[in-house]
Amino acid sequence: MKDLIIAGNWKSNKTTSETKEWLDKFTSFDFNFINKKIIIFPSFTLFFSVQFYLLTLKSIIEIGAQDISSFGEGAYTSMINGKQIKEFCSMVLIGHSEAREYLKEDQVSLDQKVKQAIASNLEIIYCVSSVDQEIPENIHIVAYEPLFAIGTGKPDTPEDANRICQELKNKNIHVKYTLYGGSVTPDNVNGFTSKNNIDGVLVGGASLDPQLFYQIIKNA
Ligand code: PGA
Repeated sequence: MKDLIIAGNWKSNKTTSETKEWLDKFTSFDFNFINKKIIIFPSFTLFFSVQFYLLTLKSIIEIGAQDISSFGEGAYTSMINGKQIKEFCSMVLIGHSEAREYLKEDQVSLDQKVKQAIASNLEIIYCVSSVDQEIPENIHIVAYEPLFAIGTGKPDTPEDANRICQELKNKNIHVKYTLYGGSVTPDNVNGFTSKNNIDGVLVGGASLDPQLFYQIIKNA
């Protein structure tokens, strides 16, 4: 069986009390039979609570950051650097289409972020929405997230996603794992994860509900 990666991208959602409710519910489920890599990507403000509850409850999920500064420590107002992220996280998302669109991220800044993440020993999930987008060297995990599928309830077909994940791997020999993202639900997840070239999923909306996210993990 493949080692699947199931990632939950919370985007700009949840307060600390909502996070506690999510974790209380999520950690009450049975994970004994599950050997998948589970990661959630909460907002920076929630890291402390998530880490705290995961220490006091059973540690079953890893924490990831949704972004990283393209600079190191220093006079870079508003930025959160790799060393600060590493205190809480094992992973970071780089190149999500919403960051590319709303923060106007370009390839120069994405490349710098990749360098910073590597320097801080963070694993990267690098997001692209097509095979034509550049993937920096040293990236091992890529999430393919077609724009039409993000938050729309209209996922790509597993066949199409599988073909594109294969193309991504063929074109970038350093890429070892490809995830699919875009309107993943408990009902459609297995269609994706049962495909040869899909090594997991990046879940947005459905990861906000602990029951749905658990069901996705179970069904994957
Ligand atoms: P969605 O988001 O599951 O809500 O479509 C996926 C993502 O943006 O990572």
